[in-house]
Amino acid sequence: MSFDFDTPVERRGTDSGKWAWFGEDVLPMWVADMDFRSPQPIIDALEARVQQGVFGYGMDSKALKETLVERMQRLYGWTIEPEAIVMLPGLVSGLNIVSRAVGAPGDSVLTNTPVYGPFLTAPINQQRRLLTSPLQETRFGRQLRYDLDMAGLEKVIVDDTRLFLLCNPQNPVGRAFTRNELEEIAAFCEQHDLIICSDEIHCDLLLDETRHIPIASLSPAVAQRTITLMAPSKTFNVPGLGASLAIIQNAALRKQVEQAMAGIVPHVNILGVVAAEAAYAQCDAWLQALRAYLTANRDFAIEFIETHMPALNYTCPEATYLLWLDCRNAGIGDKPSEYFLREAKVAMNEGVWFGEGGEGFVRLNFGTPRAILEDGLKQLKAALDRAAVALP
Ligand SMILES: Cc1ncc(COP(=O)(O)O)c(C=O)c1O
Repeated sequence: MSFDFDTPVERRGTDSGKWAWFGEDVLPMWVADMDFRSPQPIIDALEARVQQGVFGYGMDSKALKETLVERMQRLYGWTIEPEAIVMLPGLVSGLNIVSRAVGAPGDSVLTNTPVYGPFLTAPINQQRRLLTSPLQETRFGRQLRYDLDMAGLEKVIVDDTRLFLLCNPQNPVGRAFTRNELEEIAAFCEQHDLIICSDEIHCDLLLDETRHIPIASLSPAVAQRTITLMAPSKTFNVPGLGASLAIIQNAALRKQVEQAMAGIVPHVNILGVVAAEAAYAQCDAWLQALRAYLTANRDFAIEFIETHMPALNYTCPEATYLLWLDCRNAGIGDKPSEYFLREAKVAMNEGVWFGEGGEGFVRLNFGTPRAILEDGLKQLKAALDRAAVALP
């Protein structure tokens, strides 16, 4: 079966957050949604549901939960019960709900940086204190690699730390943590009696032959202290439909989370549920083709940067469609995204939004047709060349 990821889809004029935020002359390579059409089974399922024409309140879908139970078993050998699944309208909500559900006001929450911005704000929003420890950055030639720094985590943890927020696969650095690394995290959380909230929203966006391992699948003991967050949103390009989920096998912990949601968190959008069901049940072939396309996009971008942008260092992500670009030696100032927006007309995320270790970086989204990616890279190169000319 072949799938077309090459033909651009016009997204201007659709109130797309990604495309409408900046001016018409700006190429948006920032927020994490892709420029591809969703797989046809999702579009067909939505069309059929829309044609039925009645959009009353929904309830949890038994079919979706059964599909998820089967999927966790098939992909990860992870046995979960349907009752463990709690539907959520989004995972930023999920991070906030979990921060609110675990521990008490004033307790602390620990995470690694750089990391997706809401990891840093959710604990604060919920009257917790935030503790952070940077991932370890190593450079091989111009390629950056990020690893866990367990000694760093040991240094910052305190007695009132109750929760560890894990991002796996990691946004923005693109790591998919290995079994050994996850075992280290799990051992650390067991030793300090921490609840683990593992945001695995990018778990299907695997590049090359990378495998994803849910941390909760390591052992029943780890599962008992873990809340896993997942969603079809990033993978199948349906983030605007608002259907996500938490897997919480520990019944007491699940109750705490449900109590933190009570009266505040709305039901999941009924069309989002339809899309999620079709995504998880019928779109494996599309997903396989998407992974190959994204892997080729990543390689194309890296080759272009290696050849034409000598001032930048970069990550080679194992998962996600995000490149983390080190602009510290490019002579473009301490807000590189502003430079590129002004001089290249390309929008990317500013590194500082991802916390400590993000200074001087930008995040580039390569989940777009190759021709658009190439245009964006050429515009970035031209802007960097002008900066190099301007250097004394
Ligand atoms: C790690 C991570 N968690 C959560 C989200 C957002 O989730 P939602 O759109 O469901 O709020 C993103 C979006 O980029 C993300 O990268």
